[in-house]
Amino acid sequence: MCGIVGYTGRRRAAPVLLKLLKILEYRGYDSAGIAVANQERIDIFKRQGKVEQIGSASLLVGRTGIGHTRWATHGAPSEKNAHPHAYGKFVIAHNGIIENHALLKEECIARNETFISDTDSEVIAHLISRYYEDDFLRAVQKACVRLEGSFAIVVLSSDHPDKIVCARKGSPLVVGKGDRECFVASDLVALSSETDQAFLLEDGEYAVLQGAQPVFYDRELSEIYKEKLRFDPVFDCADKEGYLHFMKKEMNEIPSVLNKTKLSCVPEKDFNDFYKVLCQTEYIHIVACGTAYHSGLCAKYALESLCRVPTEVCIASEYRYRNPIIKPRTLVIAISQSGETADTLAAAKLAKERGAYLAAVTNVKYSSLTRLADCVLETNAGAEIAVAATKSFNAQLAVLYSVALLRKGEKEDFTEFAAYAQKTLDSAEAVRGWTPYFLGAKSVYFIGRGVDYCAALEGSLKLKEISYLPSEGYAAGELKHGTLALVDENTPVVAILTQRSLAEKTMNAVHETKSRGARVFLITSLPDIAANAEATSSVLIPACREEFTPILSVIPLQALAYYTSIARGNDPDKPRNLAKSVTVE
Ligand code: M6R
Repeated sequence: MCGIVGYTGRRRAAPVLLKLLKILEYRGYDSAGIAVANQERIDIFKRQGKVEQIGSASLLVGRTGIGHTRWATHGAPSEKNAHPHAYGKFVIAHNGIIENHALLKEECIARNETFISDTDSEVIAHLISRYYEDDFLRAVQKACVRLEGSFAIVVLSSDHPDKIVCARKGSPLVVGKGDRECFVASDLVALSSETDQAFLLEDGEYAVLQGAQPVFYDRELSEIYKEKLRFDPVFDCADKEGYLHFMKKEMNEIPSVLNKTKLSCVPEKDFNDFYKVLCQTEYIHIVACGTAYHSGLCAKYALESLCRVPTEVCIASEYRYRNPIIKPRTLVIAISQSGETADTLAAAKLAKERGAYLAAVTNVKYSSLTRLADCVLETNAGAEIAVAATKSFNAQLAVLYSVALLRKGEKEDFTEFAAYAQKTLDSAEAVRGWTPYFLGAKSVYFIGRGVDYCAALEGSLKLKEISYLPSEGYAAGELKHGTLALVDENTPVVAILTQRSLAEKTMNAVHETKSRGARVFLITSLPDIAANAEATSSVLIPACREEFTPILSVIPLQALAYYTSIARGNDPDKPRNLAKSVTVE
């Protein structure tokens, strides 16, 4: 994963690099570093931990530099493994994975070259150094030819202190142009804080940043013309606005996000095509990862029950290697908050290559997924900074449910859901009192049937992700087939019950866990169930159309994860080992 940046121009590079890196921290925060070139030397400053750890690097002198914020793949999170990496006259920052790094490293060691880090990336600096005669760009190109895997790299050379060479294959990289200055970054969100003019680097292309104008080259190093993209700021606000954590702020934004939901395409003219495809489609495949996969599961229940269109939901990392059957008239929907998740992109690409119409449900304009899709259904949830997805999940559901209603020929006004969501947020505060029962638990179960099962899966993922408690989301009817053996008097069980026709069935599972000593917590829209004396505590949420209830029932589950995380002394915004956007497979 990782975020990379570069700057050359009229200003001191270090403060600009640090600002851009802070925005890219969602891509990883195991370590951070910058390198700044001046006429005498290249200074490197790097530390384990978040970008704030390298704040004093802002004093580095020079107008050209590169930076990196890391999510460790090869080599533990540590200062020695932090980027940038140097060898000879070259300093590099890399995002991606060099799959043949071991072989290349052996080759270098046989040439008596020594390595400082355990990363797959350091070898890139060695190769560039080996191929350098006096042409910086040529040396980078020769090195890139040797690399297998995925990469976006930015390179400095002490022989060319006012130049950055950039290359990409498989990992994103965008170049920006300002007033007598150039930028490079892993995404447009970072660039949009400095400029509204960008160039999207494609696989196999190179860019040289020097002076005011970037120059682009194809894989043979012939100069190429690239269209300039003028873009609006991607997100206007990424501030905690007085909240202690982004996660809490983002949960509290759910009502306003639902209020804004309107099914439309970007660009708008694609909507007719999408509508035509949707009406004629005979099969729907949904591909996504993590929370987005759970929103796909929720959508399946709505699409099949309301529209009777067979819908398959597949984890993107499975779909891409599974040789899926994509029949004519299959609509593929890729869901991704960031639009940059590597597995989702690969699954979407595969579906498109096999002839499917590809619709993207995403929250980030100009992301890789938006550029790949035939049609983009934006979620418009605004910047989501906390690693744990919250409001983007609710927004994805609103869009996907609107798709189901469109196919059915019905209109739904999600502004009504905004008021329900506000009521749910208010009642969800009660789960704060549940946390003492969860803190020391060996494991936690979330159970439900139908759409409540989908919500249970999401509740469990959220709890694991930020509280680090082992937990499982389970179909309530399935517990007795094995997993019930794990339930004892220390096990908290959270049951979700929003469908009248299934409530008694789920209550059977509740009784079964209760008789094994479990403490039961209920989230329900059914007042009689909420009054059930067997539960330690219940949260009553507003009733809504049964197919759509996860859009509300997930809110107390998000709150439970949030309060448990805090009670365990964790940082809910930046859980260990994770990153907001998973750009490697
Ligand atoms: O950006 P995406 O929606 O493609 O991300 C997919 C998952 O990585 C993401 O939903 C992850 O599971 C969340 N951190 C869960 O809260």
